[in-house]
Amino acid sequence: KILVLDFGSQYNQLIVRRIRELGVYSELVPHDISLDKIKQDPSIKGLILSGGPHSVYDQDSFTVPKQLFELDIPILGICYGMQLMAHLLGGYVEGSQHHEFGKTYIDLIDENPLTAGLGKTTSVWMSHGDQVKVLPPFFVCTAKSSATEHVMMRHLARRLFGIQFHPEVTHTEQGLYMLEQFVKLTEASRTWSMTTFIESQVEKIQNTVLDQQVILGLSGGVDSSVAAALLDKAIGKQLTCIFVDHGLLRKNEGQEVADYFNQNFQLNLVVVDAKGLFLEKLKGVENPEDKRKIIGKTFIDVFEAETKKLKNATFLAQGTLYTDLIESGTKHAKTIKSHHNVGGLPKEMNLKLIEPLNTLFKDEVRKLGQALGLPEALVQRQPFPGPGLAIRIIGDVTEEKLKIVANSDQILRDEFLTHGLNQSVWQYFTVLTPIKTVGVKGDNRSYEYVLAIRAVTSIDGMTADFAHIPYDVLSKVSSRITNEIKGVGRVVYDITSKPPGTIEWE
Ligand code: XMP
Repeated sequence: KILVLDFGSQYNQLIVRRIRELGVYSELVPHDISLDKIKQDPSIKGLILSGGPHSVYDQDSFTVPKQLFELDIPILGICYGMQLMAHLLGGYVEGSQHHEFGKTYIDLIDENPLTAGLGKTTSVWMSHGDQVKVLPPFFVCTAKSSATEHVMMRHLARRLFGIQFHPEVTHTEQGLYMLEQFVKLTEASRTWSMTTFIESQVEKIQNTVLDQQVILGLSGGVDSSVAAALLDKAIGKQLTCIFVDHGLLRKNEGQEVADYFNQNFQLNLVVVDAKGLFLEKLKGVENPEDKRKIIGKTFIDVFEAETKKLKNATFLAQGTLYTDLIESGTKHAKTIKSHHNVGGLPKEMNLKLIEPLNTLFKDEVRKLGQALGLPEALVQRQPFPGPGLAIRIIGDVTEEKLKIVANSDQILRDEFLTHGLNQSVWQYFTVLTPIKTVGVKGDNRSYEYVLAIRAVTSIDGMTADFAHIPYDVLSKVSSRITNEIKGVGRVVYDITSKPPGTIEWE
């Protein structure tokens, strides 16, 4: 494997993904990982020092012991990583007021295995202020740009390389090629794939669980479903999945999930019908935050009550992803959201955690799901909020309103599928407003709810644009909803991006 030492760059996860795309297992680790740990692990074949927001001269800048460069494995420093390498090995880094940012052409002026076979110039993505002014002894500069004298450096005998730009972003034309050249130099075995992942995880789970019992909360979402399928493969009947049906899922979704897992797996599935309980708890509650809290707490209460019935369970499995860990785990990435966790399970239960997906990115989890044979509809499922349809009803939640959102959502999904929009639009759903407006249905005056359609494009949900849906699709959806759904008299399309709007309305 190849370790990426984290110096806080916003691109550091991307480096890990690129290395994995090249077939080598890679992990992001804190920059202050102990040297002994690296020395004692012969599977580590190379290191990459990531970029970062600091200057090597900052008081509190992140650094590594100089001996890191004596490990005799190939090391690549990217941006800050290159500057740190130069600084520690006797070069000189200069702070600069001038920031070089964006696409830049560089000249390749000397031999470097990372750029072997490329032409004389190539375009790269720069994002830096400081730069290496004086190379450390015995290093050779192999590329320059108009603003930066030393864009790439290398020490062939020690297999140390520095790159001032970002090869991991797609804007760097030959970035993946350069990373591949580095990967080749490390001689790390390029066998990382979902099949090997499944084999190694199955073995690991079996060795951890032995003859004991595992509980998993199945939500119907991608992560918990894939975790369930993987655990099923490893331990089958020793796994019990608890599916709390809170009645706030999309139409038929609860039933579909339950049927699918019952028919295709050996695991024990406990379906808890808690629809009535959730409706009862939500009765008359209008404030969005109150709704979320009530749903979260009720969910944990029900889950706890069920787990207590399973006396001999030792492990709790969760579909925690790598990104969830990085976002809340490593020292240097910003905390975005605290995800997952069935929450405060009673301490006296003393369940040990198993998180078999915690080295994977979301798209890798989807690939794993495919490799495990899960149906596309499940693997490609769009994001769905924990509090479900309850936060797509503005105001209090009733059974009647739940029917309206569930049925209108079904129509929207039907039409998006028919018109081939289900892949390109990131998330789409309907929102029931508490507003009633006047209309005419048949020969009669009507006075019914306004329903909104929300459809957005996004990469990760952090920012989003409203999707540019063709008018004829909107028109079809609108006419079907007003015709087929009792209680809705008007349909509007939400044309707000995020920011300033959020994706959900509550
Ligand atoms: P917002 O509305 O904040 O949503 O722009 C961003 C993404 O997160 C989903 N979302 C949630 N997911 N629990 C979740 O698991 C929640 O409470 C929750 N609230 C919003 C939302 O559907 C969108 O994909």
